[in-house]
Amino acid sequence: MDDRIEELLATLDLAGKLRLISGASLFRLAGDPAIGLAEMPVSDGPSGVRGENWDERDPSVSLPSGTAIAATWDPALLDEIGALIAAEARRKNVYAVLGPTINLHRSPVGGRHFECFSEDPLLTGELAAAYVRAVQAHGVSACPKHYVANDSETDRFTVDVRVGARALRELYLYPFERAVDAGAWMIMDAYNAVDGVTMTENPLLDEPLKGSWGFDGVVVSDWTAVRTTDSAAHGTDLCMPGPPYFWGEPLAERIRAGAIPESAVDEKVRRILRFAIRVGALDGTPRSTPVFTDARARDLVRAVAAEAMVLVRNDGVLPLAPRTTVALVGPSAGEPRYLGGGSATVIPGHTTSPVEGLAATLPVTYTAGVRLSEDLVPAPLSVVTDPATGEPGLSVRYLAAGTELGVQHRSASRLVLLGEPLAARATTVEVHARLRADVAGAWQIGVAGVWHIRLDLDGTTVIDEHVALDSGDPAAVLLDPPQRQVTRTLAAGDEVDVRVVIDLGAAAVPGFGVVLGATLGVRRPQRPDDEEFAAAVELARAAEVAVVVVGTTEQIESEGVDRTTLRLPGRQDDLVAAVAAANPRTVVVVNSGAPVEMPWRDDVAAVLLAWFPGQEFGAALADVLTGAVEPGGRLPTTWPKTMAEVPVLDTTPVDGVLDYAEGIHVGYRAWLRAGTAPAYPFGHGLGYTTWSTGGLVVAGRTVSLTVTNTGDRPGKHVVQAYLSRPTSAIERPVRWLAGFAAVTCAPGETRTVDIALPRRAFEHWDGRGWAVEPGAFTVLVGTSVEDLPHTATVS
Ligand code: BGC
Repeated sequence: MDDRIEELLATLDLAGKLRLISGASLFRLAGDPAIGLAEMPVSDGPSGVRGENWDERDPSVSLPSGTAIAATWDPALLDEIGALIAAEARRKNVYAVLGPTINLHRSPVGGRHFECFSEDPLLTGELAAAYVRAVQAHGVSACPKHYVANDSETDRFTVDVRVGARALRELYLYPFERAVDAGAWMIMDAYNAVDGVTMTENPLLDEPLKGSWGFDGVVVSDWTAVRTTDSAAHGTDLCMPGPPYFWGEPLAERIRAGAIPESAVDEKVRRILRFAIRVGALDGTPRSTPVFTDARARDLVRAVAAEAMVLVRNDGVLPLAPRTTVALVGPSAGEPRYLGGGSATVIPGHTTSPVEGLAATLPVTYTAGVRLSEDLVPAPLSVVTDPATGEPGLSVRYLAAGTELGVQHRSASRLVLLGEPLAARATTVEVHARLRADVAGAWQIGVAGVWHIRLDLDGTTVIDEHVALDSGDPAAVLLDPPQRQVTRTLAAGDEVDVRVVIDLGAAAVPGFGVVLGATLGVRRPQRPDDEEFAAAVELARAAEVAVVVVGTTEQIESEGVDRTTLRLPGRQDDLVAAVAAANPRTVVVVNSGAPVEMPWRDDVAAVLLAWFPGQEFGAALADVLTGAVEPGGRLPTTWPKTMAEVPVLDTTPVDGVLDYAEGIHVGYRAWLRAGTAPAYPFGHGLGYTTWSTGGLVVAGRTVSLTVTNTGDRPGKHVVQAYLSRPTSAIERPVRWLAGFAAVTCAPGETRTVDIALPRRAFEHWDGRGWAVEPGAFTVLVGTSVEDLPHTATVS
């Protein structure tokens, strides 16, 4: 391959080379017909493949998010998931999927916690490697991100992370090291700085990434993370997005002036050509991928979601017997979150809510009980029609100086204009719909967006305002723009002509076109809050079992912001407490990607953590609640009782610096050091059968344990092995995860589980390299970091 790369490189002049090291557009690498190189679209990732556009007309399969995947503790599951991701990528003409996200859960408030796997580097690293192998096995590139120490969102573009060499090597770099070992073809570097140098120019790109780890793929910048022209002298190979800015003509001038050597560009081009050969964009065609029918994709997403759900408490109420009457309450039962907010968003073509999933299996009554927030939600398709076609949805018109450029029928009332070709030429976007009230009362009707916004209801202008972005993060233009609304009292069946006119003004970002999120939003009338609350409690009282589905929102758990509280929004805690008081058989299902406080957890019969489980949430939940399958998840992150007790919490930089002062004590290691008991420890999770375990044998670095399913139904057991070093000359965690394996056993079945502990689990970074402290380590084996009944000594 190397000869071929040199041969092609020799045919390119400087302009031709520079065209390749910046994107061609927002989500596309440049091609070059003269050398037979195709343009290469890339896409977010990681829990589905959005494609180049953020558009419901081109939907995607929505998979469980990072924390859910990690909760399976089963890297083997990623083979199928990777095949589906590759198939989705190929269907959308995508050459690289921007994932997995393998930063760590340093603090539970981190806005992208849901997207990352775990607080533990080994669990993260195993899953990262499995994800990379599984996707790339089908000729589509993965792109582990964000290298490195991008573990929170506050001031994410500028924060300077100070992290000691040992924590960096043993914790934050480790998952990337494993991803490189697994053969990653592309890695994304981060927005933040480490030790004073922004990551797109950081020496960590040279050593260890391209140096001792031997990474020969492409380092792509996070989007807009390249800050200067001269950064081209450093380790980032590809500046995204395009078209070229810093690394276009300004770089050509610097090279001609002799300030930057052309050889620096050659090295980047070599890597990009190697990537193109690997993904079939040069010399040959992309490989074919497995075929996923809708049914096969849905079955997989449903199975993985159930495999990820963590039952942290169960007094025996679960699984539910057939025909149990269920009162389903909680806002997230009807309008759940399938995925977290931000660039990880995909638009599924099909979803099943908990109400839909449970009602298909059991006799169910439902009311929300409380609202999650006072915000507008995108107008449901059941209440808006496109005046032009009469179909559910809206009509969107693009105009330039009064001339119509095009009209689209859209079946979503949330539009994300990013790379939309019509928007690129437009000066005004007009959204038009007929809203039909399906219940009587006070409707709030409005719009979320920025720039100059006008809202006309039945031809009368009710809002006409210049709206400025109210967030420090520019991504909020897309993800969470400000809202404006008015109230209209409507009878059921009343119709209102709604027209939103947005003057795009400065929405165009030079080079990238229009970047704007615009939502036609409503807030439906609801009975007075107290009445609605009481109605939910009465439903719960009347049923055999109450299932309360609580959760967070897209605004709370999202890229771009860290959380300010771990409390559930709205009156959800009150609702759980009141329902539990009315019905002792109350099951709480938590729909969040990251830990939340659960002050009622000891007063309810069962607590099931469902994460952001992807599009088949409801079906998977019904499977688990009825016992059709076991809840297969174990906690990939410690679940605190209260935010105040979290040992590593703060993500706010001081004078631009975020100091990882805790060093190697992150996650359960920090809890162990603090001596505080969390609500539920790392690794914890219950199934529906019973087990006996024993016969621990350690031979070399292999740990063997015998497990027997002593119950009367099949079950999953996750054997976890930790190491500790009771007397040590160096600072160490109390104990640390060294290996794990998931097994399933039929009733009465016995299996011996072998876990090979990697050499690295015994090593520490001594400042210059990896070292093993002579002497004995203790191996502790069990089912969570707190439940380790089997121990042995290993030298
Ligand atoms: C995110 C990346 C993402 C990229 C492209 C950035 O803001 O940090 O994770 O892949 O946007 O959408």
